[in-house]
Amino acid sequence: MRDDQIEGIDYFVDLQPETEDFLATVLAGLSQQQKTIPPKFFYDANGSKIFDQICVAPEYYVTRTEIALMNEIAAEINALVELGSIVVEYGCGSSLKIRALLSALPDPAEYLAIDISRSHLIATVQEIAADYPNLRVGAICADFSDALNWPKEAAADRDQRLAFFPGSTIGNQTPEEARQFLERVRHLVGDSGNLLIGVDLKKDTDVLNNAYNDAAGHTAEFNLNLLHRIKHELGGLLDISAFEHDAFYNEDLGRIEMHLTSRLDQSIEIGGQQFNFQKGESIHTENSYKYSIDEFIELAGGSGFGSVKAWTDADDYFSIHYMAAI
Ligand code: AVI
Repeated sequence: MRDDQIEGIDYFVDLQPETEDFLATVLAGLSQQQKTIPPKFFYDANGSKIFDQICVAPEYYVTRTEIALMNEIAAEINALVELGSIVVEYGCGSSLKIRALLSALPDPAEYLAIDISRSHLIATVQEIAADYPNLRVGAICADFSDALNWPKEAAADRDQRLAFFPGSTIGNQTPEEARQFLERVRHLVGDSGNLLIGVDLKKDTDVLNNAYNDAAGHTAEFNLNLLHRIKHELGGLLDISAFEHDAFYNEDLGRIEMHLTSRLDQSIEIGGQQFNFQKGESIHTENSYKYSIDEFIELAGGSGFGSVKAWTDADDYFSIHYMAAI
């Protein structure tokens, strides 16, 4: 562990994991029966930029619905959360969301952000520290899905810890991975901790399919960016136009699946290895699980969180859950 001094904030803990070997992961993933590449590789600088475009695409209701709902329920959140709590944000994404939360809370004492991207993390916490001068601000550079202990630099005398996990990022894990992740969150916030989490809901299949197939093609570009990375970073020998973006709601499993599907019988080469595709065969790149309110409450219950209140927007597209350690 390295503790660095970062200007403008109170503490910075560096637990950044060794950069995962993109080549080794791709070779292993493409050697499986169902070829696969994990979604974390979407988020290089270009992929993160494309993701920001997805978030404002008209079909992708997720981001705007969650932010509007946060603002709508601000007074209720204010009444539920104790004075002087410490907010721990998992994966500091859109600073609009943490701002909506900090503004809703009664006199928060501290903001602790956890993110794997060092530059994005530092930029976010420095901005928040400048705009909320009474707030103590700290950061942990880490993979937030790893087990983490409460950092010694964070205020330890306050029991009230509120984990904040917006964006329905929980949906990118399988339900069992999500349960295990929430157990680790439960460990970090302790016996009197709370969780505020955004969870995308099951809904009309067309609405879901459109959200992952926006007309401007941002989601397709986001998915295909993986092939650009393979070509340019790994020297892969492949024709990107021989693959297409494919995203659909799998009703049986309650999840959107994203794939890169081969338009023809072909063979590509990466790191000296050949991978054969039949026409229609795919690389599975992401799952985005959708839950009902009750399904999510049951899942979180298995991790030691009980539901205090859940809110949804007028269309029942998205939910925000306030939960307490049990
Ligand atoms: C980050 N995550 C919650 C997004 C989702 O909706 O599953 C990622 C995404 N993939 C395609 N569009 C958005």
